[in-house]
Amino acid sequence: MCGIVGYVGPSVDGKALDVVMEGLARLEYRGYDSAGVALVTQDGVVSEKRAGKLANLRGALEEEHLPPATTGIGHTRWATHGGPTDANAHPHRGGADDRLALIHNGIIENFHSLKKELVEQGVQFRSETDTEVVAHLVAAAYGESGDLTEAMRTVVNRLEGAFTLLAVHEDAPGVVVGARRNSPLVVGLGEGENFLGSDVAAFIGHTRNALELGQDQIVTITPEGATVINFDGSPAEGKHYEVTWDAAAAEKGGYATFMEKEINEQPHAVGDTLLGRTDDEGRLVLDQTELSEDDLRSIDKIVIIACGTAAYAGMVAKYAIEHWTRIPVEVELAHEFRYRDPVIDEQTLVVSISQSGETMDTLMAVRHARELGARTLSICNTHGSTIPRESDAVLYTHAGPEIAVASTKAFLAQITASYVLGLYLAQLRGGTYADEAQSVMKELQGMPAKIEELLGRMGRVKEIARFMADTRSVLFLGRHVGYPVAMEGALKLKELAYIHAEGFAAGELKHGPIALIDAGQPVFIVVPSPDTAHGLHGKVVSNIQEIRARGARTIVIAEDGDEEVVPFADEVIRIPQSSPLLAPLLSVVPLQVFALHLSTAKGLDVDQPRNLAKSVTVE
Ligand code: F6R
Repeated sequence: MCGIVGYVGPSVDGKALDVVMEGLARLEYRGYDSAGVALVTQDGVVSEKRAGKLANLRGALEEEHLPPATTGIGHTRWATHGGPTDANAHPHRGGADDRLALIHNGIIENFHSLKKELVEQGVQFRSETDTEVVAHLVAAAYGESGDLTEAMRTVVNRLEGAFTLLAVHEDAPGVVVGARRNSPLVVGLGEGENFLGSDVAAFIGHTRNALELGQDQIVTITPEGATVINFDGSPAEGKHYEVTWDAAAAEKGGYATFMEKEINEQPHAVGDTLLGRTDDEGRLVLDQTELSEDDLRSIDKIVIIACGTAAYAGMVAKYAIEHWTRIPVEVELAHEFRYRDPVIDEQTLVVSISQSGETMDTLMAVRHARELGARTLSICNTHGSTIPRESDAVLYTHAGPEIAVASTKAFLAQITASYVLGLYLAQLRGGTYADEAQSVMKELQGMPAKIEELLGRMGRVKEIARFMADTRSVLFLGRHVGYPVAMEGALKLKELAYIHAEGFAAGELKHGPIALIDAGQPVFIVVPSPDTAHGLHGKVVSNIQEIRARGARTIVIAEDGDEEVVPFADEVIRIPQSSPLLAPLLSVVPLQVFALHLSTAKGLDVDQPRNLAKSVTVE
């Protein structure tokens, strides 16, 4: 997830660099492992890019003194393909004499085959990115048509995946062309100057007059205006709107808090994590691996190590991976793992899950596992961080930077990646579930739309949270994959609202915790899909009856169409239907939204709860 800015202005003042740098500063939260700009000047297209934070680029520009320009593009990167280096930073150049510059947010899924084609034509690549492929293609198409919009149109129709692209060309001064598919791009309309941005934060200091683009559209901005067409070339109209936020709020993309923004980004976090997971033969692949297929076939046990929310993602993963691969899976808190003399060897695959890739407890556990001879695989959201660097194989989640301390979108992305891992191992090892990999992947690909729909239904959850602002204790129950979801719901509430909260396996209730239930005690129950094996659904309905009979206030999270829960629920929160193993991607969302709004109702700092840090780099 990267930040993108484009600008065209009047020919008199040549302030493009200032506008672009200001926009990048506001978008830096989207990604900050490298940054770059390109300007169309009287001397042609010039560009500058640097690995590291925006400050590094700023320092380079102070030394370099680029000539004044009226047209420019800028990029702040969160690496996906290719590590965070100067060479991989955007813009990427293309064409004879590098006359074109291009920036990109997203993942081009079919870049391997496109790159092969270009290499065969003799094109030399200077980076490891998928983006550079597009720069060469657009430059070549411009050579044919002499029209930057048409060149972009030709190329986007060949691309698969998710992308926002901006391009400038030396022979087209005063023009920036943008295109979008499954990735954001908005237009800012000024007086004699126009803007493009990943979100309105990019130009909020200059105009509040914005134009929303639809899916699969191309926009061409000049100082005079903005023209929109569809990928098929037909004319289109963007949707005008007035931005009502101030510049400070816009840094959160218009949301009141980063956490709210990140909850709303979850459809993308899941969708992006699924992108580019298959090779040309349609087989699932890891991002990086030093393990051979034989190594992975010889695995006889998996141990998942992680902390906090990531450990709950691991607990969900256990149900899925065991089911699909028939390999026994243990889940262990990373800080307990290395102090208990674990039984592991070279036939054990130790899977670490970490958003930051820097959590010291998890890192130390990975090192311990390696010392004991285990194979290690990292599921991680931060490119090039320590844990993936020290692991034998990596599967990156593409949730984008998570700024709010409490994890939300990373959790969904971790679950998604661990499903991919389970399906990958099932496919590799053959057996009963190998053939199912394709159909489960297909269902997974439909989950972002379901999460999006669910996010649109959260009105009642917000009301419940507001009514419960004075509550002192909340319990969460679940079974099967709903059990870790219940614990994650409790963790979110503890962290954000400082309320006593506990998550239990619902079956454990009668073995003790039911003594906590008295009149008015709020209890969330995550109900499994009626399709879950062994009649589990009916058993949870009985658990709801048992606590309701003892005075609990029952807030039930159940699938659309599940009417059996209704007689025993004080509130029913509906989630879309899914197969049982995928349900956590939906059932956790109302619990996140509940914690967020309860914290807000109490007037607390949602993004930076007391006593916590985003990345725990001490043991
Ligand atoms: C809770 C939360 C933490 C992290 C944990 C692991 O909302 O964010 O429990 O999940 O500290 O962090 P990572 O995933 O960076 O290893």
